[in-house]
Amino acid sequence: MIGDKVMRIVILENADQVATAAADVIASTVQRHPEAVLGLATGGTPLGTYQKLVERAKRGEVAFDRVTTFNLDEYVGLPADHPQSYCTFMRRHLFEPGGFALERCYLPNGSVTTWQDLEEECRRYETLIQRAGGIDLQLLGIGADGHIAFNEPGSSLASRTRVKALTEQTRRDNARFFSCIDEVPRLAITMGIGTILEARRILLLATGEQKAEAVRAFVEGPVSAQVPASALQLHAATVVMLDAPAATLLARKEYYLSMERIQQRLEAGLPL
Ligand code: PGA
Repeated sequence: MIGDKVMRIVILENADQVATAAADVIASTVQRHPEAVLGLATGGTPLGTYQKLVERAKRGEVAFDRVTTFNLDEYVGLPADHPQSYCTFMRRHLFEPGGFALERCYLPNGSVTTWQDLEEECRRYETLIQRAGGIDLQLLGIGADGHIAFNEPGSSLASRTRVKALTEQTRRDNARFFSCIDEVPRLAITMGIGTILEARRILLLATGEQKAEAVRAFVEGPVSAQVPASALQLHAATVVMLDAPAATLLARKEYYLSMERIQQRLEAGLPL
Protein backbone atom coordinates (compact mmCIF):
# COMPACT_ATOMS: atom_id res chain seq x y z
CA MET A 1 0.00 0.00 0.00
CA ILE A 2 1.25 3.49 -0.80
CA GLY A 3 2.18 5.30 2.36
CA ASP A 4 1.47 2.36 4.65
CA LYS A 5 1.78 4.67 7.62
CA VAL A 6 -1.22 6.81 6.83
CA MET A 7 -4.95 6.88 7.29
CA ARG A 8 -6.24 5.66 3.94
CA ILE A 9 -9.61 7.11 2.88
CA VAL A 10 -11.65 4.93 0.49
CA ILE A 11 -14.81 6.58 -0.86
CA LEU A 12 -17.31 4.25 -2.52
CA GLU A 13 -20.69 4.92 -4.06
CA ASN A 14 -23.03 3.21 -1.63
CA ALA A 15 -23.32 1.15 1.53
CA ASP A 16 -23.43 -2.13 -0.37
CA GLN A 17 -20.04 -1.39 -1.97
CA VAL A 18 -18.65 -0.53 1.47
CA ALA A 19 -19.92 -3.86 2.81
CA THR A 20 -18.33 -5.77 -0.07
CA ALA A 21 -14.98 -3.98 0.26
CA ALA A 22 -14.96 -4.48 4.05
CA ALA A 23 -15.83 -8.17 3.65
CA ASP A 24 -12.92 -8.46 1.17
CA VAL A 25 -10.48 -7.06 3.76
CA ILE A 26 -11.73 -9.32 6.57
CA ALA A 27 -11.99 -12.47 4.44
CA SER A 28 -8.53 -12.02 2.92
CA THR A 29 -7.06 -11.47 6.41
CA VAL A 30 -8.56 -14.79 7.56
CA GLN A 31 -7.59 -16.60 4.34
CA ARG A 32 -3.96 -15.53 4.85
CA HIS A 33 -4.04 -16.18 8.59
CA PRO A 34 -6.80 -18.66 9.62
CA GLU A 35 -6.06 -18.07 13.31
CA ALA A 36 -6.32 -14.29 13.05
CA VAL A 37 -7.57 -12.27 16.01
CA LEU A 38 -10.41 -10.03 14.85
CA GLY A 39 -11.85 -7.08 16.75
CA LEU A 40 -15.54 -6.74 15.94
CA ALA A 41 -18.26 -4.11 16.23
CA THR A 42 -22.03 -4.07 16.56
CA GLY A 43 -24.53 -1.54 15.22
CA GLY A 44 -26.30 -1.02 11.91
CA THR A 45 -23.17 -0.23 9.89
CA PRO A 46 -21.36 -3.60 9.94
CA LEU A 47 -24.52 -5.65 9.29
CA GLY A 48 -24.07 -5.72 5.50
CA THR A 49 -20.43 -6.75 5.93
CA TYR A 50 -21.41 -9.57 8.29
CA GLN A 51 -24.06 -10.77 5.86
CA LYS A 52 -21.48 -10.96 3.07
CA LEU A 53 -18.99 -12.80 5.31
CA VAL A 54 -21.68 -15.35 6.24
CA GLU A 55 -22.51 -15.88 2.55
CA ARG A 56 -18.82 -16.41 1.75
CA ALA A 57 -18.41 -18.85 4.65
CA LYS A 58 -21.48 -20.79 3.48
CA ARG A 59 -20.02 -20.99 -0.04
CA GLY A 60 -16.79 -22.37 1.47
CA GLU A 61 -14.68 -19.38 0.36
CA VAL A 62 -13.48 -18.59 3.89
CA ALA A 63 -13.54 -20.50 7.19
CA PHE A 64 -13.87 -18.71 10.53
CA ASP A 65 -13.68 -21.75 12.80
CA ARG A 66 -10.10 -20.99 13.93
CA VAL A 67 -10.29 -17.23 14.45
CA THR A 68 -10.52 -15.53 17.84
CA THR A 69 -12.73 -12.46 18.16
CA PHE A 70 -13.04 -9.62 20.65
CA ASN A 71 -16.01 -7.30 20.50
CA LEU A 72 -15.56 -3.66 21.32
CA ASP A 73 -18.24 -3.33 23.95
CA GLU A 74 -21.29 -4.64 25.78
CA TYR A 75 -24.12 -3.03 27.71
CA VAL A 76 -24.00 -3.22 31.51
CA GLY A 77 -27.06 -4.78 33.11
CA LEU A 78 -28.23 -7.07 30.30
CA PRO A 79 -27.61 -10.80 30.58
CA ALA A 80 -25.62 -12.22 27.63
CA ASP A 81 -28.75 -13.95 26.27
CA HIS A 82 -30.93 -10.78 26.43
CA PRO A 83 -32.38 -10.09 22.94
CA GLN A 84 -30.65 -6.67 22.78
CA SER A 85 -27.28 -7.67 24.23
CA TYR A 86 -24.36 -7.33 21.85
CA CYS A 87 -23.60 -10.98 22.53
CA THR A 88 -27.00 -11.94 21.07
CA PHE A 89 -26.47 -9.56 18.13
CA MET A 90 -23.13 -11.14 17.25
CA ARG A 91 -24.37 -14.72 17.62
CA ARG A 92 -27.38 -14.03 15.43
CA HIS A 93 -25.73 -12.00 12.68
CA LEU A 94 -22.25 -13.50 12.46
CA PHE A 95 -20.99 -16.14 14.87
CA GLU A 96 -23.60 -18.86 14.43
CA PRO A 97 -24.39 -18.54 10.71
CA GLY A 98 -20.69 -17.86 9.92
CA GLY A 99 -19.38 -21.00 11.66
CA PHE A 100 -17.27 -19.27 14.34
CA ALA A 101 -16.06 -21.28 17.37
CA LEU A 102 -18.14 -19.66 20.11
CA GLU A 103 -15.59 -20.49 22.82
CA ARG A 104 -13.14 -18.12 21.09
CA CYS A 105 -15.67 -15.29 20.54
CA TYR A 106 -15.22 -12.89 23.43
CA LEU A 107 -17.35 -9.96 24.56
CA PRO A 108 -17.10 -8.11 27.85
CA ASN A 109 -19.48 -9.59 30.41
CA GLY A 110 -21.84 -6.75 31.30
CA SER A 111 -24.10 -8.84 33.48
CA VAL A 112 -21.96 -8.49 36.61
CA THR A 113 -23.57 -6.13 39.08
CA THR A 114 -21.05 -4.64 41.52
CA TRP A 115 -18.49 -1.96 40.68
CA GLN A 116 -15.77 -4.24 41.92
CA ASP A 117 -16.86 -7.04 39.58
CA LEU A 118 -17.16 -4.61 36.66
CA GLU A 119 -13.63 -3.34 37.24
CA GLU A 120 -12.37 -6.89 37.49
CA GLU A 121 -14.17 -7.76 34.23
CA CYS A 122 -12.47 -4.82 32.45
CA ARG A 123 -9.05 -6.01 33.62
CA ARG A 124 -9.87 -9.58 32.62
CA TYR A 125 -10.84 -8.43 29.10
CA GLU A 126 -7.58 -6.55 28.58
CA THR A 127 -5.64 -9.62 29.75
CA LEU A 128 -7.57 -11.89 27.38
CA ILE A 129 -6.68 -9.63 24.43
CA GLN A 130 -3.02 -9.62 25.42
CA ARG A 131 -2.93 -13.41 25.88
CA ALA A 132 -4.41 -13.84 22.39
CA GLY A 133 -1.42 -11.89 21.06
CA GLY A 134 -3.32 -8.63 20.42
CA ILE A 135 -5.83 -7.79 17.70
CA ASP A 136 -4.75 -8.22 14.06
CA LEU A 137 -7.66 -6.34 12.48
CA GLN A 138 -10.16 -4.16 14.35
CA LEU A 139 -13.46 -3.28 12.69
CA LEU A 140 -15.04 0.00 13.85
CA GLY A 141 -18.16 2.04 13.23
CA ILE A 142 -18.47 5.65 14.33
CA GLY A 143 -21.20 7.46 16.25
CA ALA A 144 -22.75 10.67 14.97
CA ASP A 145 -20.88 12.39 17.83
CA GLY A 146 -17.54 10.91 16.76
CA HIS A 147 -17.44 8.11 19.31
CA ILE A 148 -15.73 4.79 18.63
CA ALA A 149 -16.99 1.80 20.62
CA PHE A 150 -18.60 3.53 23.64
CA ASN A 151 -15.75 6.03 24.00
CA GLU A 152 -17.93 9.10 24.09
CA PRO A 153 -16.59 12.66 23.51
CA GLY A 154 -14.19 13.56 26.31
CA SER A 155 -12.78 10.03 26.63
CA SER A 156 -9.04 9.96 27.26
CA LEU A 157 -7.16 9.08 24.10
CA ALA A 158 -5.07 6.73 26.27
CA SER A 159 -8.07 5.01 27.89
CA ARG A 160 -8.25 1.26 28.48
CA THR A 161 -11.24 -1.09 28.81
CA ARG A 162 -13.57 0.41 31.41
CA VAL A 163 -17.16 1.30 32.26
CA LYS A 164 -18.57 4.36 30.47
CA ALA A 165 -21.88 6.20 30.72
CA LEU A 166 -23.69 6.50 27.38
CA THR A 167 -24.58 10.02 26.26
CA GLU A 168 -28.23 10.87 25.70
CA GLN A 169 -27.57 11.09 21.94
CA THR A 170 -26.15 7.56 21.88
CA ARG A 171 -29.07 6.25 23.94
CA ARG A 172 -31.49 7.93 21.52
CA ASP A 173 -29.58 6.52 18.50
CA ASN A 174 -29.69 3.01 19.99
CA ALA A 175 -33.33 3.23 21.15
CA ARG A 176 -34.41 1.92 17.73
CA PHE A 177 -33.31 -1.56 18.83
CA PHE A 178 -35.40 -1.42 22.07
CA SER A 179 -39.13 -0.94 22.58
CA CYS A 180 -38.53 2.45 24.26
CA ILE A 181 -35.61 4.69 25.27
CA ASP A 182 -36.08 3.88 28.97
CA GLU A 183 -34.99 0.33 28.24
CA VAL A 184 -31.63 1.42 26.75
CA PRO A 185 -28.93 0.78 29.37
CA ARG A 186 -27.07 3.79 30.76
CA LEU A 187 -23.69 2.11 31.15
CA ALA A 188 -21.48 -0.07 29.00
CA ILE A 189 -18.12 -1.80 29.24
CA THR A 190 -16.00 -0.60 26.34
CA MET A 191 -12.49 -1.12 25.06
CA GLY A 192 -10.61 2.13 25.56
CA ILE A 193 -9.15 4.28 22.80
CA GLY A 194 -5.66 3.21 23.88
CA THR A 195 -6.78 -0.44 23.62
CA ILE A 196 -8.18 0.12 20.11
CA LEU A 197 -5.04 1.94 18.93
CA GLU A 198 -2.98 -1.18 19.74
CA ALA A 199 -4.74 -3.19 17.00
CA ARG A 200 -2.27 -3.86 14.18
CA ARG A 201 -4.74 -2.75 11.51
CA ILE A 202 -8.00 -0.84 11.84
CA LEU A 203 -10.92 -0.70 9.40
CA LEU A 204 -13.51 2.00 10.14
CA LEU A 205 -16.79 2.02 8.21
CA ALA A 206 -19.20 4.95 7.97
CA THR A 207 -22.29 5.15 5.80
CA GLY A 208 -25.09 7.66 5.44
CA GLU A 209 -25.20 11.44 5.62
CA GLN A 210 -25.94 11.37 9.37
CA LYS A 211 -22.24 10.42 9.77
CA ALA A 212 -20.86 13.11 7.42
CA GLU A 213 -20.06 15.67 10.12
CA ALA A 214 -18.39 13.11 12.40
CA VAL A 215 -16.34 11.87 9.41
CA ARG A 216 -15.23 15.39 8.51
CA ALA A 217 -14.29 16.10 12.12
CA PHE A 218 -12.23 12.96 12.70
CA VAL A 219 -10.50 12.83 9.30
CA GLU A 220 -9.77 16.52 8.74
CA GLY A 221 -10.14 18.14 12.15
CA PRO A 222 -7.58 18.22 14.95
CA VAL A 223 -6.84 15.21 17.15
CA SER A 224 -9.10 15.80 20.12
CA ALA A 225 -10.72 13.85 22.93
CA GLN A 226 -13.91 15.71 21.91
CA VAL A 227 -13.91 13.62 18.71
CA PRO A 228 -12.69 10.21 19.90
CA ALA A 229 -12.30 8.76 16.38
CA SER A 230 -9.72 11.48 15.61
CA ALA A 231 -7.25 9.40 17.67
CA LEU A 232 -7.03 7.17 14.59
CA GLN A 233 -4.90 9.90 12.97
CA LEU A 234 -2.19 8.59 15.30
CA HIS A 235 -2.57 4.98 14.15
CA ALA A 236 -0.15 3.58 11.59
CA ALA A 237 -2.47 1.39 9.51
CA THR A 238 -6.08 2.58 9.43
CA VAL A 239 -8.38 2.30 6.43
CA VAL A 240 -11.58 4.39 6.46
CA MET A 241 -14.30 3.17 4.09
CA LEU A 242 -17.11 5.62 3.35
CA ASP A 243 -20.13 5.72 1.11
CA ALA A 244 -20.71 8.92 -0.88
CA PRO A 245 -23.20 10.47 1.60
CA ALA A 246 -20.81 9.99 4.55
CA ALA A 247 -18.01 11.65 2.54
CA THR A 248 -19.95 14.77 1.49
CA LEU A 249 -18.33 17.20 3.95
CA LEU A 250 -14.70 16.20 3.32
CA ALA A 251 -12.77 19.18 1.97
CA ARG A 252 -10.07 17.00 0.36
CA LYS A 253 -12.41 14.43 -1.20
CA GLU A 254 -10.92 14.79 -4.70
CA TYR A 255 -7.45 14.17 -3.34
CA TYR A 256 -8.54 10.96 -1.53
CA LEU A 257 -10.26 9.73 -4.71
CA SER A 258 -7.15 10.38 -6.80
CA MET A 259 -4.94 8.61 -4.23
CA GLU A 260 -7.25 5.59 -4.41
CA ARG A 261 -7.06 5.52 -8.21
CA ILE A 262 -3.26 5.43 -7.95
CA GLN A 263 -3.49 2.76 -5.24
CA GLN A 264 -5.68 0.58 -7.43
CA ARG A 265 -3.33 0.87 -10.41
CA LEU A 266 -0.47 -0.10 -8.13
CA GLU A 267 -2.36 -3.12 -6.76
CA ALA A 268 -3.28 -4.20 -10.29
CA GLY A 269 0.38 -3.97 -11.31
CA LEU A 270 -0.34 -1.20 -13.85
CA PRO A 271 2.19 1.55 -14.55
CA LEU A 272 1.56 4.88 -12.79
P1 PGA B 1 -24.28 2.42 13.88
O1 PGA B 1 -23.49 2.73 15.21
O2 PGA B 1 -23.42 1.48 13.07
O3 PGA B 1 -25.55 1.73 14.34
O4 PGA B 1 -24.52 3.70 13.19
C1 PGA B 1 -22.13 3.05 15.15
C2 PGA B 1 -21.62 3.45 16.51
O5 PGA B 1 -22.39 4.00 17.32
O6 PGA B 1 -20.43 3.24 16.77
